[in-house]
Amino acid sequence: MDATPQTPTTVTITGAGGQIGYALLFRIASGAMLGADRPVRLRLLEIPQGIKAAEGTALELQDCAFPLLQEVEITDDPRVAFDATDIALLVGARPRTAGMERGDLLAANAGIFGPQGAALNDVAADGVRVLVVGNPANTNALIAAAAAPDIPADRFAALTRLDHDRALAQLAAELECPVSDLQNVTIWGNHSATQYPDIDHATVAGRPVREALAERRGDAVDTWLDEEYIPRVARRGAEIIAVRGSSSAASAANAAIAHVRDLVSGNGSRGWTSAALISRGEYGVPEGLVCSFPVTSDGTGYRVVEGLELGGRGRGRLDASVAELVAEREAVRELGVL
Ligand code: NAD
Ligand code: LMR
Repeated sequence: MDATPQTPTTVTITGAGGQIGYALLFRIASGAMLGADRPVRLRLLEIPQGIKAAEGTALELQDCAFPLLQEVEITDDPRVAFDATDIALLVGARPRTAGMERGDLLAANAGIFGPQGAALNDVAADGVRVLVVGNPANTNALIAAAAAPDIPADRFAALTRLDHDRALAQLAAELECPVSDLQNVTIWGNHSATQYPDIDHATVAGRPVREALAERRGDAVDTWLDEEYIPRVARRGAEIIAVRGSSSAASAANAAIAHVRDLVSGNGSRGWTSAALISRGEYGVPEGLVCSFPVTSDGTGYRVVEGLELGGRGRGRLDASVAELVAEREAVRELGVL
């Protein structure tokens, strides 16, 4: 007897015709994000200039004959794109261009993420989950959530999983160990150069990472962290842009997939991961800011891991990143958006 067919999950990707979209769509359609038994319906949102690129990608999706892919719809109307959507990946954003001030960038993105939040509020499925990838991701998520008062705040997140994975990979390279030996690295704060990649609670094959680092670096562990590790992770996005000529795409798509996979399936027994969630005041982060925290998921949503000790140096770094988030929120408030 046939098993009951699964109801398809509707996934909306904004900016689907861009670089990250191209790296994301095929993996979602293959089952890498929601599981090998979960049919998907894709909705691709683009601006009119991006529709052709999205159409080209849709032709290629068809040519893959993915058994799980039930439908691909392309539109430039957010209310069509988000209609009954279960998972919204907000990737499309206004990039910073020459001569553009930070305020101009925030204003341009407020004009995108405000209306998208409002459309999600009106037409998305009741249980919708929203992940913001487009930069400045934390504040774009804040804007979208503010425009969607009927969607519970804990359904919104901004992507810091890429920073988390970068932090794991750099640590594995230093310790010459497999990434799978590492647990409980944290990204705190903003998805920007002020973020704080924190190894103080991390373990390698069950023992404290600080102990393993001390065997290599002696009493210069903090120097290595301050001068090499933390800047390398925090500025990795800029390094990729400098070397590749455009911003990270496949690694960003991979991180978005990992974020949603762990959100809907749980992150298992692999310690914690990192995601930027709307603060409820955890670790003294002002309520309402979208800040990266250590998080776990049991498959029903991400929850902040509470009660970790932040040493004086770590506290200072988190405070600096939170100050940047507060300044971004103030700038957006001055625009009258929040
Ligand atoms: P891209 O320029 O290749 O693609 C962006 C796409 O978004 C374009 O096709 C564009 O037409 C579309 N777009 C613009 N405004 C839109 C709107 N209002 N509605 C729908 N679509 C719209 O850029 P990309 O490389 O795919 O990167 C996308 C975003 O992700 C950028 O903001 C980038 O900085 C950010 N990013 C974030 C992370 C992270 O870890 N959070 C990592 C890498 C990149
Ligand atoms: C990244 O972390 O790779 C990106 O956010 C960088 C960027 O500015 O697009």
